[in-house]
Amino acid sequence: VLVLGATGNAGRLAVPIARHLGAGQVVAAGRDATRLAALEGLGAGRTVSLADDPDAVDAALGAAADAAGVDVVVDYLWGSATRRAIPAVLTRRSDRRRPLTWIQVGSVAGLELAVASEWLRAARLELVGSGQGAVSTAEIVAELPALAAHITAERSAIDAVPVPLADVAAAWSAPRAAGARVVFTP
Ligand SMILES: NC(=O)c1ccc[n+]([C@@H]2O[C@H](COP(=O)([O-])OP(=O)(O)OC[C@H]3O[C@@H](n4cnc5c(N)ncnc54)[C@H](OP(=O)(O)O)[C@@H]3O)[C@@H](O)[C@H]2O)c1
Repeated sequence: VLVLGATGNAGRLAVPIARHLGAGQVVAAGRDATRLAALEGLGAGRTVSLADDPDAVDAALGAAADAAGVDVVVDYLWGSATRRAIPAVLTRRSDRRRPLTWIQVGSVAGLELAVASEWLRAARLELVGSGQGAVSTAEIVAELPALAAHITAERSAIDAVPVPLADVAAAWSAPRAAGARVVFTP
């Protein structure tokens, strides 16, 4: 599994969860160097910095994905980041007939993506999405107990900051440390 945008809150969680669900190897890609390095302790076998020179990023991403035998990409970025990442991964793929499922989850790098026709011809690329609608509410709810138990056991994956619900108005716009996840409590 390649997690694109692994330094965000959701991507950071995806790394240990992918391992937990059986991924043989997880490649974590993101920009923030400190958060990227921390992902090695959460189960990422390889990390790729997206903060370097774009051509170097393409080469590193493609090489890491190929070396890990990536067949699923969990994509929190989309837009300009994915526009480079898809050809970077496809062109360095040793076996392009092997299915590659690219899961659109988030879009912090852009809401839209122009899909080059050759991507779909030159490799077994499948673009799918994950979110409410693509996955039914019942299916999401069914997964929650096991995920909650796993996340609780892997506390280091979340920098949770508990805030009483009564303070929601002030907390909504208050500055917070990078990566901190506010959790409103009753
Ligand atoms: N479909 C679903 O069910 C679902 C579930 C959860 C989240 N999401 C979506 O997933 C996305 C991420 O959520 P999140 O909670 O992880 O957000 P977040 O904690 O705010 O993290 C976003 C991260 O994106 C990175 N980033 C922003 N622009 C980038 C760019 N141009 N290139 C590379 N990295 C970039 C930044 O990483 P650096 O700090 O390294 O720069 C930032 O930390 C959002 O769009 C969210 O709506 C969808």
